[in-house]
Amino acid sequence: MSNNTLILGLQWGDEGKGKIVDALAESSEAVCRFQGGHNAGHTLKVDGEQKVLHLVPSGILHPSVHCVLGNGLVLSLPALAKEIKELQESEINFKDRFYISEDCSLILPTHIAIDQVRDKEEGIGTTGRGIGPAYEDKIARRAVRFGDLKNLEELNIKLLTLVNYHNQILQNLYNAQPIAFEDVLEELTSNIDLYNKYHCKTQDLLKLWVKQGKSILFEGAQGSMLDIDHGTYPYVTSSSTTAGGLSSGLGVGPRHIDSILGITKAYTTRVGEGPFATELFDSNADQLAKIGHEFGATTGRPRRCGWLDLKALETIVFINSVSNLCITKLDVLDGFEAIQVCIDYDQNQQPIYKTFSGWKQDTSNARSFNDLPKAAQDYILFIEETLDCPVGIVSVGPSRDQTIYRD
Ligand code: GDP
Ligand code: IMO
Ligand code: MG
Repeated sequence: MSNNTLILGLQWGDEGKGKIVDALAESSEAVCRFQGGHNAGHTLKVDGEQKVLHLVPSGILHPSVHCVLGNGLVLSLPALAKEIKELQESEINFKDRFYISEDCSLILPTHIAIDQVRDKEEGIGTTGRGIGPAYEDKIARRAVRFGDLKNLEELNIKLLTLVNYHNQILQNLYNAQPIAFEDVLEELTSNIDLYNKYHCKTQDLLKLWVKQGKSILFEGAQGSMLDIDHGTYPYVTSSSTTAGGLSSGLGVGPRHIDSILGITKAYTTRVGEGPFATELFDSNADQLAKIGHEFGATTGRPRRCGWLDLKALETIVFINSVSNLCITKLDVLDGFEAIQVCIDYDQNQQPIYKTFSGWKQDTSNARSFNDLPKAAQDYILFIEETLDCPVGIVSVGPSRDQTIYRD
C-alpha cells in the first residue's frame, strides 16, 4: 500500500468503509475525515465487539493512530461530545491524537429543526441531522464555525443573526416552533471543552505530515451516488463525497494522494428515497436484507436492496479515478442459487443483467483469494474486468480479520 490512500464508498453509502478503514489503519499513522457529518454511520467489529462511529474517524481503535476532522465537515458539538464520551468509557484515549479544524461549519439545533420540517415536504428521506441546512449556510458565507468559539463575544453577535434568520424560516415558511437563542448559545458554550482540547489548524498539520511522508488514510463518508454534483440529484447528500472533495475538505492537493480505494458491496443498497435502477422487490431483496442485516447504522431505517450495477460503477470509477477496488459483503451472497449483475441499460433505462450461478458455500472463513469457491472468484474477476480496475481487497464478514488482501 502506498503512503496516502483515499478510501471512498462508490454506491449510496454503507459499503463497509468503517470496517475497511479500521483494518487498514493498523499500518497507518493518521485517519482523516474530509466531508459529511454525523449523518454517517461507520461500523467496526473488533474481537466480537461492535462500535458505530458517526464523526470520529475509523482509526480511533488503534491507540497510536492520529485522527482528524477536516474543514470540509459540518460538526454537531453535542453529537461529537456524546461519541467521544462513549469511546472514552471503553478506554479509548483522545489526548494528543485528535484534531478538529477551526474551519468546520457548526450544525446548530435550528439546522436540525429546518432539515426535519423541510424533509416532510420534500421527501428526500434525509437522516434529519441538519446536514443540508448547515452546508447551505456554509456556502452562503453565514455559518458559525468551530473557530468562532475562540471569542464568545463575537460568537454571540454572529449566532444571534443566524438564529434569528433560522427562526424566521421555521415560523414563516413552515409554521414550526422557533428555537430560543439562549438554548442554541448554551449548546455551544456547554461544549467549549471540545474547542479547548481539540481545535487545530488542520491544514497546517496535514501539510506537515505529508511533507514528513507520514502514511495517511483519508476516510470518505456517504458514497459517490450521494454526491451533491455527481449523485442522483436531488436525492443526494449536501457534500462532495467523490475524490474531488478530499482536496477542498482537508487542504491536501490531488497529487499528494497516492492511491484511491473504491469500496462497493457485492450487491447494492440504498437508504432514503430516490432512483435505484437495480432495486429488487422479490424474495431476493428479503434475503439480501436479512442476511446482510441491511438496516441503517445511523437511523435504523431498512435499506433498500438490489443487484450490483456495473454500468453505474463504471462511471463512478472514472469520476474518482479509483486505483483499486474493494468488494465487501461477498459472504451475503453465499446462499443464492443465482446472482445477477447489471451490465447495461436498455432504451427504456431498464437494467440488462448477466446471470451468474451462485456458489452455495460459506465464504466467511476464506482468508485468501484461492480459498474462495471458483464461482465466487469468477464473480470478482468479472467485476474487475468490466470496470477495468483491480480488486485489491475482498471482505467476507464484518470482523477485522474477515478480509482478503490480493497482491
Ligand atoms: P459504512 O457506512 O460504509 O462504514 O458501512 P456501515 O457500517 O453503515 O454498514 C456496513 C455494515 O456491513 C456494517 O454492519 C458492517 O459491520 C457490515 N459489514 C462490513 N463488511 C462486511 C462483510 O464483508 N460481510 C458482512 N456480512 N458484513 C459486513
Ligand atoms: P455512511 O457514511 C447511507 C443519505 C440519506 C438520504 C440522503 C440525504 O454511513 O455511508 P442527509 O442527511 O445527508 O442530508 O441525507 O443521504 N445518507 C446516507 N445513506 N449512508 C450514509 O452515510 C448516509 N448519509 C446520508 O439516507 O437519502
Ligand atoms: Mg453507514
